[in-house]
Amino acid sequence: MTKHQLRCIDCATPHEPSIADLNCHHCGGLFSVEYLELPSSNKPRLPITDISLINSLGEGETPLICLEDTCEELGLESLWAKLEFMSPTGSFKDRGSAILTTMGRDLGVTEFVEDSSGNAGASLSAYAASAGLKANVFTPSNAATGKLDQIQIYGATLHKIAGSRQAATDAAEQYVADNNSIYMSHNLSPYFSEGMKAVSFEVVAFLDDAIDHVVLPVGNGSLLLGMVRGYQELFDSGVISRIPSFHGVQAFSVRPVVAALNGEAWTHHDARPTGASGIAVSKPPRLSEILDAIRCTNGTGVTVSEDSLLTWQSRLASSEGIFAERTSVGAFAGLEKLIESGVIASGSKVCVPITGTGLKEPLET
Ligand SMILES: Cc1ncc(COP(=O)(O)O)c(C=O)c1O
Ligand SMILES: [Zn+2]
Repeated sequence: MTKHQLRCIDCATPHEPSIADLNCHHCGGLFSVEYLELPSSNKPRLPITDISLINSLGEGETPLICLEDTCEELGLESLWAKLEFMSPTGSFKDRGSAILTTMGRDLGVTEFVEDSSGNAGASLSAYAASAGLKANVFTPSNAATGKLDQIQIYGATLHKIAGSRQAATDAAEQYVADNNSIYMSHNLSPYFSEGMKAVSFEVVAFLDDAIDHVVLPVGNGSLLLGMVRGYQELFDSGVISRIPSFHGVQAFSVRPVVAALNGEAWTHHDARPTGASGIAVSKPPRLSEILDAIRCTNGTGVTVSEDSLLTWQSRLASSEGIFAERTSVGAFAGLEKLIESGVIASGSKVCVPITGTGLKEPLET
C-alpha cells in the first residue's frame, strides 16, 4: 500500500494513505489518490499492492454489447452498452466497494458508517460481509425495497432516515460524530472511484479508442470521475490517442452539475423529488472535480424529465431485453436529447454504461 499518497484537491498538500481521514488537515478539502508509479498500458493503477488479496466477489469484466435497434432508431453508427448491472450486487458500485473495503480491511477498520441512496449501501454491505467488517448504512426511508432488503440480508445495520438523500448523509455524519465511528463514505473517500477506472480499460481492450462519446448518469460522480481517470491513464501510457467526450445526465428535478455547467443559479433548495434516486444528489461534494472532468473531455451536461425515464425504461426492456433501473435509463433519455440538439452528431460511436438493474425497485407506471 505504499505506491500512493493522498493529495488535497484544493490546496495540494500531500497526506499519508488513510481511510479515517477524509479531509485535508490544512484546509478541509477532499483528497485524490496520487500514484508514485507510472501508468501501465494494461491495467489501472490501484492503491492495493497485492491484487490477489483484493476483497472480490467477482466484480468487473462486465459484458459490452451492441444495442442494434436503439442504435438504428437514434441514427448512430454504433451504440455500445456496458452492462454494469450484471455485477454481484446488481450495480456498478461493486467495483468501488471491492477497493474501498480492501483498503479499510488492510488499514485496520473493523466497523464503518456509510450513507447511500441504496445501491452503494447494498454493495458495501455485501463486500463488508465478505471482508468480515461491520457496516452501518444510512439510507432515505423511501429507498427501493430491493436495496433495503439487500442491506439487511448482508448483515449490515440499516438506518432508514425520513426525508431527502441529503438527510441520510446528515444523519450518518451525526452518528459518526456521536459514536466516534469511521465514516467510510464512498463519496468522500478517494478510493471508491479508483475502482471505476477499470470500466474504461475494459472498453478500450474491446474497442480501442473507437468511442466518440460516453453518456452516463451523474450523482456524486464516482463513475464519471473514475472512467475519465481511467481514460487519462490509457492516454498517458500511449495506449490510446484520444479520450471520448463525457456527457453527464441528471434529472431536471436535481441538477447541480448541469446547472453549474450552464451557469444557471441553482441550489439544493431548488431540488424536487425524482424517480432517478441514484442521481438525486443536490450537493455533490466533488462538484468542482466533476465539472473539470466533463470540461476537459469537451463533454456537456443534460437534464431529463421524469416521463422520459419511464418511457426509456420500458423502451429498453421491450426492444433490447434490458431491465435497468430508472436512474440508469436516464442516460438514454439524455443521449436522445443530445442527438436532437446536435451535441452528439448522428453517425457517432457512443458507449453507455447501464449502471443498475431494474429488479430492485418497484415499477412506476
Ligand atoms: C444505478 C445508479 N446509477 C448511477 C448512479 C450515480 O453514480 P455516482 O453517484 O457515482 O455519480 C447511482 C448512484 O447511486 C446509481 O445507483
Ligand atoms: Zn487542503
